[in-house]
Formats: sequence, C-alpha cells, structure tokens
Amino acid sequence: MEYRTLGRTGLRASVMGIGAGGPSRLGQRDNIRSESESIDLVLQALDAGVNFIDTAEGYRTEEIVGAAVARRDRDRIIISTKKSLGRENISREVLRAGLRESLSRLGADYIDIYHLHGLRLEQYDYYSQEIVPELQDLKQQGLIRCIGVTEHWNGDLEHKMLQRALKDDVWDVIMVGFNLLNQSARETVLRTAREKDIGVLIMFALRRALSGPDKLRATVRTLIERGEVNPDEIDSEDPLGFLPAEGSAVSIPDTAYRFCQAEAGAHVILSGTGNPGHLAANLASFARPPLPREDIQRLKHIFRDVTSVTGQ
Ligand SMILES: NC(=O)c1ccc[n+]([C@@H]2O[C@H](COP(=O)([O-])OP(=O)(O)OC[C@H]3O[C@@H](n4cnc5c(N)ncnc54)[C@H](OP(=O)(O)O)[C@@H]3O)[C@@H](O)[C@H]2O)c1
Repeated sequence: MEYRTLGRTGLRASVMGIGAGGPSRLGQRDNIRSESESIDLVLQALDAGVNFIDTAEGYRTEEIVGAAVARRDRDRIIISTKKSLGRENISREVLRAGLRESLSRLGADYIDIYHLHGLRLEQYDYYSQEIVPELQDLKQQGLIRCIGVTEHWNGDLEHKMLQRALKDDVWDVIMVGFNLLNQSARETVLRTAREKDIGVLIMFALRRALSGPDKLRATVRTLIERGEVNPDEIDSEDPLGFLPAEGSAVSIPDTAYRFCQAEAGAHVILSGTGNPGHLAANLASFARPPLPREDIQRLKHIFRDVTSVTGQ
C-alpha cells in the first residue's frame, strides 16, 4: 500500500481509503451484510494496510467503524467523519452535540478529520462565519485534529462551493468528486488545493457508472448524445475495452481507481463496498502501479469536455 502525506495536515494516509458511505455503506444499505460482517470488511482493509476510514453521522456506520478500530491500534488509523447539515443552518450547539455523539459512536477521544458534510454554496457564508470558529475551538481543545469540508457534487456540478472554500485559509482537508468520466475538478479545485497544500480526498471514483459495464455503456451513450464525448474516439459498446486489450488494466473498477490514483493533487481515493470480493479486488488495484501514461492521456482526452455527469 502506498502512503501519501495529506497536504498540510502532515498525516500519512494510505492512498486507498475505506468509504463507509456511498451506495453500499459497508453493506448496511438494504441490510446486505450483518454488522459483524461489515466490521470484518473494515478489518480486512486495515489488515491489508489501509489506515484511512471515512464515515459520517448520516451514514449510520460510525459504530461499525468504531468496533473495527477498537480491535486494532486506533492511533495508527485516520478517522474522518462528518456533521450532517441539511437545508436548515445548524447552530454551534448542534455542531458540538453532533461531535460528542460521533465520538461516542466511534468510541474515540478525538477525530482526525471532522467535516461539514455536503456544504452548499448558498450556505457557505453562514458556516464560515458562525461554525468555522467553533471548529477551530474544537481543534484547540484537541477533540478534532483537522477541519474538512465536503461538497454536494450531484447538486454542484461545477464545484462552486469548493472553489469558494479554497479562497479561505481555514480548511485543512477537502473532499471532492472526481473520476475518469468527469475530470472537471482538475482545473477548478485540485490545482488550487495543491498550491495551498490542502489535503484532498477523492469521492465518486466509481460511484455507479464505473462499477460495471452496463452502467458505463449507458453513461457513455448519454455523453455522446449530449455532445460531450466524440463517438469517433470511443467504442460505445465497450468504452474502456482498449485498456485491458493492451494489458494495462484488469477491469473497469481497476481502471477507475488507478486513474484517480495517478491524479496530481489527489491524496486519498475513497473506495466503498459491502462485498469482501470487491474489497480484495480493490486492494489489488491500489497495489498495482498507476495506469501507463499513454492510457491516462487517452482517457483524459476522450472525456476532456465532460461536465454534466457525476457517475451517480
Ligand atoms: N458529500 C460527501 O461527503 C460524500 C458523498 C459521496 C461519497 N462520500 C464518501 O466517499 C466514499 C466513496 O463513495 P462513492 O460514492 O465514491 O462510491 P464508491 O466507493 O465508488 O462505491 C460505488 C459502488 O461501487 C461498488 N463497487 C466497489 N468496488 C467494486 C468492484 N471492485 N467491482 C464492482 N463494483 C464495485 C460498490 O458496490 P458493492 O457493495 O456491490 O461492491 C459501491 O456501491 C463513501 O463511502 C463516502 O465515504 C462522501
């Protein structure tokens, strides 16, 4: 497993991070897995060298993460969790209560990265004036180590909130949507984050569109119809078929993860699953070298104009 310094936080994080939310929530969505099976999934990742876990109050997986962490060395694990925001602005008291409850569910004395979850541009000014000082206070008290913010990508395709956030100097870590289909964050977010040495977590590396061939074909067809992908540059029946044929990638998820892994300024790529076989495959992908340069260039070229889909 490769480890990277998470920007200004100085934390050394595994490039693969376990995402305890997303479409699978460690198998808890639709109760596909029992709690103990989900705990075992987290342990499987930790024992393979992953030291970064992302959860959130809203995922209802903090207790599972806490139970897994309790069986290993907590101080070697980076725990990232988030305060849900919703449409109504929350008060400082609600933030503090949320943190206390997250600490309790995680069985932790401190949280490494505490985020505002899915902040929207129109909420930004309130949160930066009212809530960020409170987060800074919690940091002073040692209850959180780093302050983070995550975007609501499906409702903010242009990454406007994060572009606004990057003008301020208060965020240690950001979480941004990025994948091989929609690489728009490269210019709008990642470049500035690198200049400012902010830790960057990548979400949506697979999401749904890159988890299997049918969904990928449907997404590519949509992109061709919208004029965002040139049909002469891609086989719409087998959009990434050219890669395994040249021996560089073993599957669509493998391509998707290794594409993100090679992206300048991306530190941790989040990967969520409720399936131990998928987890083993994803661990293997992150252990492989980055995709060959020419493949990355080709993928950058094919999807260069895409801005309308997230892979949802
Ligand atoms: N605004 C936010 O703060 C926000 C929003 C979204 C996500 N996140 C974070 O980012 C993490 C990642 O979420 P994501 O939305 O990017 O989803 P993701 O982790 O890319 O997962 C997408 C889906 O891919 C499937 N999958 C995983 N590995 C696979 C494989 N090898 N082969 C086939 N299918 C595979 C999983 O289903 P199976 O269970 O069937 O494997 C999963 O449901 C989340 O867990 C969460 O921590 C944060």
